[in-house]
Amino acid sequence: MNRSQILFLTLIFFFSFSFSQVVHVVQTAKNTGDRLTPKADISFQTKKTSNTTITISDAKTYQKIYGFGGAFTEAAAVNWNQLNETLQQQILREYFSNLNYRVGRVHINSCDFCESSYSFDNIPGDYELTNFSLKNGHDLHTVIPMIKAALQIAGPDFRLFGSPWSPPFWMKSNGQMDGSNRPGLIQDPSVFRAWALYFSKWISAYKAEDIPIWGITIQNEPEFAAPWEACCYTADQEADFLAQYLGPQMKQDHPEVKIMIYDHNKDDVYAYASEILGKRLDAARYVDGVAFHWYSGPQFENVLEVHEHYPDYFLLATEACVCPGDQGFLWESGEKYGYDILGDLNSWAVGWVDWNMCLDMQGGPNHLQGYCGSPVMINQTSKNIFYNPSFYYMGQISKFILPDSLRIDYSISGDLDISLATFKTPSNSIVTVVMNSNDSPVDFDIEFNGKFAYYELPEHSIATFYFDK
Ligand SMILES: *[C@@H]1O[C@H](CO)[C@@H](O)[C@H](O)[C@H]1NC(C)=O
Ligand SMILES: *[C@@H]1O[C@H](CO)[C@@H](O)[C@H](O)[C@H]1NC(C)=O
Ligand SMILES: *[C@@H]1O[C@H](CO)[C@@H](O)[C@H](O)[C@H]1NC(C)=O
Ligand SMILES: *[C@@H]1O[C@H](CO)[C@@H](O)[C@H](O)[C@H]1NC(C)=O
Repeated sequence: MNRSQILFLTLIFFFSFSFSQVVHVVQTAKNTGDRLTPKADISFQTKKTSNTTITISDAKTYQKIYGFGGAFTEAAAVNWNQLNETLQQQILREYFSNLNYRVGRVHINSCDFCESSYSFDNIPGDYELTNFSLKNGHDLHTVIPMIKAALQIAGPDFRLFGSPWSPPFWMKSNGQMDGSNRPGLIQDPSVFRAWALYFSKWISAYKAEDIPIWGITIQNEPEFAAPWEACCYTADQEADFLAQYLGPQMKQDHPEVKIMIYDHNKDDVYAYASEILGKRLDAARYVDGVAFHWYSGPQFENVLEVHEHYPDYFLLATEACVCPGDQGFLWESGEKYGYDILGDLNSWAVGWVDWNMCLDMQGGPNHLQGYCGSPVMINQTSKNIFYNPSFYYMGQISKFILPDSLRIDYSISGDLDISLATFKTPSNSIVTVVMNSNDSPVDFDIEFNGKFAYYELPEHSIATFYFDK
């Protein structure tokens, strides 16, 4: 190569980076075949095309992402276990390789999405838990094989957390796992001590199965005396249990395991969290994060308020699903996922965890017949696997916003009714997810560093734009 050739190539190189930078687009759109489909690249221009602009800036960064995922419920595992290995691997590859799931949830003891109720120690008064064993429950044959196979694909950087729906019946003030008095636990120090020890033994038992536990929530939906496995705590009761029993036990046995409070709907997330984080410093010292669910509606302002008052604690969306009636096949189910995930991320959530990873066509099994939808549904007769709109909406986000990505700023000029969130990934790629739930297309320029990339987003669609910075 001579000097002028080198100069020429250098100029090409320079111009390709400064003026014709390429933006990759992946799209899911209702009235097309697009399902996480790569579209033609668009490129940055010096002039804008649209009357509306989405301006992105990474001058300021916000929360760091932990990741996205779903729950290893017994219902999911029972469905998964009925498939042959080819189909089992297909589902796991879709979730843990294609969609990049890096967070998972598992129930400690049974929950409603189990074939029946169980716990790991059924001996009343066994306060030392001498009879505690995974052999006394279902997990060794249900969720554990599925989790192990998932971890093979996801790799070691995986955040798995456990949530109890109910302690064993003999620790409950109503004498059974289903339902709950207020409070749900027998108010006796030996019961509190035993229940705290139970968490520790459960974590050790999973570790012995080569399944590391990253975190726990103290109680699934502590305000709900559900007809299925439940155990009510007021914020003060949860703080008491954490401060005096669970916190010290965990600090002694599993200090690396994160502890999340609340794990219930967004309507009360600020009220409940502030009772503990603001007023109960004896308990707050053991808390790492605040977990919440979507069933009371979007209520993003409540999530934001927790961050604004208590910025040292992470916020994690830990459960969502569409039910009952609609088993997740409707396009609106996908849009509901997209709207909630993007809104939570803009309100400082570090991740978003779906409920059952797969269900049968009825939306189960569920031992109280409370059937729901799931992103993956399986016809166990024909062995057909259905990927619902929620699967693709989840994927438009989880596949691209990788763990350790940082949220960055956007602003919209012009009239644009969309949902959007934007991030910088660890490899310095700018990722922007834009969702249009209107009945007609919208168009806009994405502006970055004074350059504009034009796109028309179809009706009822979601697109992910990414480019190297
Ligand atoms: C921008 O707005 C002008 C004036 O309202 C309108 O004539 C034009 O069609 C718009 N352009 C686009 C791309 O929407
Ligand atoms: C797995 O099951 C599917 C659906 O029944 C079938 O098409 C496929 O051949 C099976 N694969 C193996 C290896 O048995
Ligand atoms: C204690 O647990 C073991 C399993 O580890 C079980 O086989 C046994 O029946 C339990 N003991 C009682 C008294 O239930
Ligand atoms: C499941 O597959 C079977 C066999 O092809 C079919 O008869 C049945 O209608 C399917 N069920 C649903 C809910 O689609």
